[in-house]
Amino acid sequence: MENIKITFKVDGIETSVVGEKDKTVLDSAIDNDIDAPYSCRGGACATCIGKIKNGKVELEQNYILTDSELEDGLILTCQAYPKSENIYIDIDDV
Ligand code: FES
Repeated sequence: MENIKITFKVDGIETSVVGEKDKTVLDSAIDNDIDAPYSCRGGACATCIGKIKNGKVELEQNYILTDSELEDGLILTCQAYPKSENIYIDIDDV
């Protein structure tokens, strides 16, 4: 997994950035000046929720999302590490 592309949709605007496997998708967003919401960055507040519409991520911690929410594609971007090369995260659709 060399070329990780992460696209974020925030306030109707899509922006694609280069991701890293050892960096959360939220950190990739922040490092690229994307206005993604967050607060605790510890998997506890749910401010950073997004919906994954393409690709895969793995959550390091999750104290909030239920199994059915996870099945619906909801993720905590502050806990999500890329597990595929082409990831699309919709921050608006949550
Ligand atoms: S910023 Fe609080 S759960 Fe992600």
